[in-house]
Amino acid sequence: MRKMEAPNVKTDIPGPKSQAIIKEARKYLVTTTRFDYIVIAKMENDLIWDIDGNVFIDLAAGIAVANVGHRNPEIINAVKAQLEKYTHAGPHDWFDELQLEYARKLVKYVPGNFDKKVFFGNSGTESVEAAIKVARWNKKRPLILAFYGAFHGRTMGSLSLTASKTAHRRYLLPYFLSIHAPYSYCYRCPFNLDPSNCNAACADFIEDWIFEKLAPPEDVAAIIMEPIQGEGGYIVPHPLFVEKVAKIAKKYDILLIIDEVQTGFARTGKMFAIEHFNATQDIMTTAKSIAGGFPLGATIIRADLDFGYQGAHSSTFGGNAVSLAAANATLDYIVKHKLWERAAKLGGEALKLLNELKEETEILGDVRGKGLFIGLEFVKNKDTKEYAVKERDKITELAYKRGLVVLPAGKSALRIAPPLTITEEHFNRALEILADIIREVDRKKA
Ligand SMILES: Cc1ncc(COP(=O)(O)O)c(C=O)c1O
Repeated sequence: MRKMEAPNVKTDIPGPKSQAIIKEARKYLVTTTRFDYIVIAKMENDLIWDIDGNVFIDLAAGIAVANVGHRNPEIINAVKAQLEKYTHAGPHDWFDELQLEYARKLVKYVPGNFDKKVFFGNSGTESVEAAIKVARWNKKRPLILAFYGAFHGRTMGSLSLTASKTAHRRYLLPYFLSIHAPYSYCYRCPFNLDPSNCNAACADFIEDWIFEKLAPPEDVAAIIMEPIQGEGGYIVPHPLFVEKVAKIAKKYDILLIIDEVQTGFARTGKMFAIEHFNATQDIMTTAKSIAGGFPLGATIIRADLDFGYQGAHSSTFGGNAVSLAAANATLDYIVKHKLWERAAKLGGEALKLLNELKEETEILGDVRGKGLFIGLEFVKNKDTKEYAVKERDKITELAYKRGLVVLPAGKSALRIAPPLTITEEHFNRALEILADIIREVDRKKA
């Protein structure tokens, strides 16, 4: 095979053809797409081509979707085979063997020493909606407790739990009954404590303040938590925080929903990120990378929490046969190649390098992550920790111009979440380019 030179940027970014499409698309498509840098023409494993012929190394994986790489041949073959049989079995009304085969396989990898059942939807937000319903149905309690910085989706139920940016919530009241507690964000501790001796006091806030003054635990059906926050800024919590939250849930007979939509399927160096912590969920929400680039969501619940009547909850396309065939092949691929080990190895090496860069520069304030789920937070000044939003945006722009696809997160962070199948050569090259850009922006600022 011809060796591909990557990245390879030959035009301005966006290139002339991309510019024309972006201009037209802004006229016809509702304003959702965030970046005007590229118009995608083709994707293969860890590379993205735009319609101007530029080649980019992908450090975003379509927001942690392409864990097994873009258009992984094993997934494509499974999809092609399924297309020859049927595409829509109508999982709301009829069974097909694929649903059973995949559910049976999936639950084996979901932590928790109990029987489990699976609900299939089409997306992360649908997984969360199903989790909310299961929790309320079982507990007959109205409230769900979520965390500041959380992202659980944008439909009205999940949006009520999302608290990563007020912009997402503006003008959309009323939300359903939810309350928010501080997340363990040690770099910017909401209580100004030192993580080396804080004993995860942020978790105590739930019991000492929320349950005392605001919401009786008897009214709380579930606590929903990302094991590592994603959109909120790729924030790894204090390990004791997760443990304490799980203990509080148990103590008050509240269900613990762990949202693995972004962190799941080997991305953080374990099959699921909750395995990094001393905690187990009752309900897990998944989506994004589950089906190698095809739309699917799965909510995995403790079997005893099942609704127990037919037709209780559903979605026409949830558990679509083509997506399930893709998910089946994706899980096989992850397990066969132990992708969690690859994520841990490449991520560990990257963290070391990026931590060295943090020492060298003023703007790189915090480097954090697990596996290939790495956040870089930029600050104007390491003492004041003033958010360096413009600098982060400049780094993002330069990254695209030099052939890297990256995504921001939080207020002034950047995420590094490439396909777990990225070649070492491409990953090292991408990190070199990114480090040069960060040094350059750091120098300009100084
Ligand atoms: C943790 C988490 N939960 C839920 C969602 C919503 O997923 P979707 O965009 O598929 O609805 C996201 C999306 O980014 C997410 O990161």
